[in-house]
Amino acid sequence: MAGNWKMYKTPAETKAFFEKFLPLVSGASHCEIVINPPFVNIAAAVDAAKGSRVEIGGQNLYWAKEGAFTGEISGPMLKASGAEWVIIGHSERRQYFGETDETVLKRTVAALEADLKPIVCVGEMLAEREAGETEAVLRTQFDGGIAGLSPEQFAKIVIAYEPVWAIGTGKTATPEMAADAHRVLRSLVTAKFGADAGAAVRILYGGSVKPDNVKGLMAQPEIDGALVGGASLDPGSFASIVNF
Ligand code: 13P
Repeated sequence: MAGNWKMYKTPAETKAFFEKFLPLVSGASHCEIVINPPFVNIAAAVDAAKGSRVEIGGQNLYWAKEGAFTGEISGPMLKASGAEWVIIGHSERRQYFGETDETVLKRTVAALEADLKPIVCVGEMLAEREAGETEAVLRTQFDGGIAGLSPEQFAKIVIAYEPVWAIGTGKTATPEMAADAHRVLRSLVTAKFGADAGAAVRILYGGSVKPDNVKGLMAQPEIDGALVGGASLDPGSFASIVNF
């Protein structure tokens, strides 16, 4: 269960979140719990989560280890700051910051080299779904990005299916729609990396996951977890999601 805070919260607000959140999830051993705050809050989050099962991640990284790349953050920097995870290829990065399947692959390889666990995002836009292109879009994103990994690299990633039309809109994919897309992704994995990889890969659903719809989504055997935006900002609501 991963929270993507996007561009929300200061270090002080991060600390306050963890003070409320940690006691609420102290009994949760059924899943891994990850919070991905903005870069400037990673130190505060790592510090606040110390001694708990909650792990911290970044929301992006650049593929070079260091260099003259103003404004960028590298995998080794994230790792040295105490992050264990990193989100890659989120639709907001694809829409607003020029992320492509090719750069998703570069970032994923760089994350693995830094010993970070990548959460690689894919998902279709509304117009693509309405045109019946969901499967083709997922295939293109998979082929252009994830499929370039070696089997050893692939075994270390988590995939997140996030239909763009469900992000921040309050429109969740129905559990069946999400499961259908997860099945498509799993079959792409099986075709490329084999049946064991297809069975083992964890696929998270993201897009307006809330305390009141998480149970239905998680009841689908195809759905292994959630990548939560808005509802992860509140300690009570993200704890309810974790404890679904
Ligand atoms: P919302 O949960 O706010 O729809 O955001 C989903 C998301 O983009 C998580 O990465």
